[in-house]
Amino acid sequence: MQNGSLPAAQKSLYGGVTSRRVTVRDLAAAKQRGERWAMLTAYDAMTASVFDEAGIPVLLVGDSAGNCHLGYENTVPVTMDQMVMMAGAVVRGTQRALVVADLPFGSYQESPQQALHNAVRLMKDAGVQAVKLEGGERSAAAIELLVQAGVPVMAHLGLTPQSVHALGGYPVQGRGDEAAHQLLRDAKTVQAAGAFSVVLEAVPAELAAQVTEQLHIPTVGIGAGAGCDAQVLVWTDMAGMTSGRVPKFVKKYAELRAALGDAARAFQDDVRDAAFPAEEHSFH
Ligand code: KIV
Repeated sequence: MQNGSLPAAQKSLYGGVTSRRVTVRDLAAAKQRGERWAMLTAYDAMTASVFDEAGIPVLLVGDSAGNCHLGYENTVPVTMDQMVMMAGAVVRGTQRALVVADLPFGSYQESPQQALHNAVRLMKDAGVQAVKLEGGERSAAAIELLVQAGVPVMAHLGLTPQSVHALGGYPVQGRGDEAAHQLLRDAKTVQAAGAFSVVLEAVPAELAAQVTEQLHIPTVGIGAGAGCDAQVLVWTDMAGMTSGRVPKFVKKYAELRAALGDAARAFQDDVRDAAFPAEEHSFH
């Protein structure tokens, strides 16, 4: 069915209902009617408010904050306290988007009870509406307990960056029959455990399309081709804020790093040349 022929309340994930946040039920309905959606990461209130106003229906407070926001080399050092602080800011900066926060490395692998304790912190102290964690069969028990307790869970399969040291970098996952079968098994397992959605990172497009077809929950691709139900990008990559090389799967929609650098240099020149502040910026 085309969007144009839908009743007003269903027109699109973000635009359909004006007075409340997007929910996991809205995402399930979007999959049913074949509506694709976008997710972006956010780590602070101001950036989150820009994406919320732009109509992005789901914001991820990703532990990619480790390398994109907090100056670490990877996601491994990110702590629960840091996640709670950033997630709270993103929730306060938004009105419409469903806010999902990552459970960082070490905050859920010990036991399902540890996962629940930390997921509850993200929901009560930061106010997020869902959490994300990495792993398929290895995380199924944690997902099950969280879902039973009323915590919506987004799973994360394929390349799982918290395992960077075990993987020896960030290689594409799911190549070859055995790995592809395992990924499909993992996807079905997290769905059966109650996950409302699953991120597929750095997997062959054909495999991601197959997973998407076989699941009734939405798949969110990053480096997983065009066959997923949704797509996510790290906002600093998407907006050209990241310095240096970005992964092959990134499309830059702006050159924010250059624009911000130009603005800073122009400010500095004006101060040096006594062109700022001008009369209109001064009190008398
Ligand atoms: O932490 C993150 O930003 C993520 C996305 C890349 C999916 O997990």
